[in-house]
Amino acid sequence: MRTALCPGSFDPVTLGHLDIIERSSRHFDEVIVAVIRNPQKTQSLFSLEDRQQMLKEATQHLSNIRIEFFKGLLVDFARDHGVDAIVKGLRAVSDFDQELQMAQMNQRLSGIDTFFLSTSPQHSFLSSSLVREVARFGGDVSGMVPGNVNDRLVETFQNGRSTAAEGEV
Ligand code: PNS
Repeated sequence: MRTALCPGSFDPVTLGHLDIIERSSRHFDEVIVAVIRNPQKTQSLFSLEDRQQMLKEATQHLSNIRIEFFKGLLVDFARDHGVDAIVKGLRAVSDFDQELQMAQMNQRLSGIDTFFLSTSPQHSFLSSSLVREVARFGGDVSGMVPGNVNDRLVETFQNGRSTAAEGEV
């Protein structure tokens, strides 16, 4: 059985992420989507449990997906879970430098290869951070995230009763 690992912050999952997960699921027997527990980039908007729950709902049409979380080194998680390959989406050249460096480091640490999928063009501008920013100021992100995630964003920013880890909404 061939297992792929799609890691990320997923704060929140976008249609760009979902596209990569769906396409990975066609190439591998099983895909583990691993949500990082404490992303370093920013303070999270959504809690780990919320990010996992939104991913579960958004991927329920796929039978070979497992949602997990991890902390520490990705390659330690990958080894513990018998992962054969890491899969990442590449949106643009700007992603490439950092992704190449991480792929080479992960390969050096563990021998596990990273496969890159080119993001579908309609999603190439999408990022979780932009989605958060647009939603925060009332912009329409309904065509950029799964329906359940859009509902959560609207609820979070319109009603101001966020389960978010971030203080100010
Ligand atoms: O969605 P993101 O924030 O772009 O995902 C980045 C992530 C979580 C895949 C990356 O930061 C990561 O793998 N972090 C785990 C820590 C680690 O293994 N660092 C060494 C990478 S070479």
